[in-house]
Amino acid sequence: MEKKLVVLSGAGMSAESGINTFRDADGIWEGHDVMEVASPEGWNKNKELVLDFYNQRRKQLLEVSPNEGHHILADLQNDFKMTVITQNVDDLHERAGSQNVIHLHGELLKVRSVRDAKLTLDWTTDLTSLDRNDQGDALRPDIVWFGEAVPEFERAIDFVKEADFVIVIGTSLQVYPAASLMDYAPEEAVVYYIDPKPAPIAHSYQHLKIIPEKASRGLKMIKEEIISWGQTL
Ligand code: APR
Repeated sequence: MEKKLVVLSGAGMSAESGINTFRDADGIWEGHDVMEVASPEGWNKNKELVLDFYNQRRKQLLEVSPNEGHHILADLQNDFKMTVITQNVDDLHERAGSQNVIHLHGELLKVRSVRDAKLTLDWTTDLTSLDRNDQGDALRPDIVWFGEAVPEFERAIDFVKEADFVIVIGTSLQVYPAASLMDYAPEEAVVYYIDPKPAPIAHSYQHLKIIPEKASRGLKMIKEEIISWGQTL
């Protein structure tokens, strides 16, 4: 039976595509007060500032491409039943061919009704305060802001609990509840953590391999091993 692989990715996964991470030296949060551009309070205080912040990030996303790491992960779908659970709001996993992607923190290429979060629209241009959906609602970025609930979290836990293999990649493991997901992995799961500056891992696993490399290089290093290990289990 096909083994289950769950990928838990963060901003480092998209770094080699040219999208800055949040907390590295030249990070996205540098020069921005996070709460001004990524919180309901910031939205209520200055909608134009928030709209402009996400319009700039949406524009950049349409100019970049998936990197080799995204493609290696997509190829692993040939050997595993793979689910990607990402904190990233970009669509680079999907563009590389990954089929089952859960976005814990929302999607940059979607907007939603301020009245009903379930009413989402695909959106690739600038969003303005004048835009409305068919129901006449004002619109906001379909992003989970600090202090907001993470609706996909429960579903994500169910996938991690069933995992035979987990690849944690490109996340500083500082933002909860996303950072706690890997703790739900089964004791016997094989866990890889790929990050050039890996954060300390508190949880104990029978099989934990820390690969202090960038995403593409780290995935190149483990892909043969994880495939053959998957065939032996
Ligand atoms: N390859 C792999 N990992 C990398 C690379 C790379 N080329 N470059 C940097 N990294 C690692 C860093 O070492 C760091 O551990 O990626 C991680 C990026 O950490 P953060 O910037 O904190 O990003 P992330 O963990 O995804 O942040 C989580 O915080 O601000 C919120 O909602 C936002 O989803 C985001 C969440």
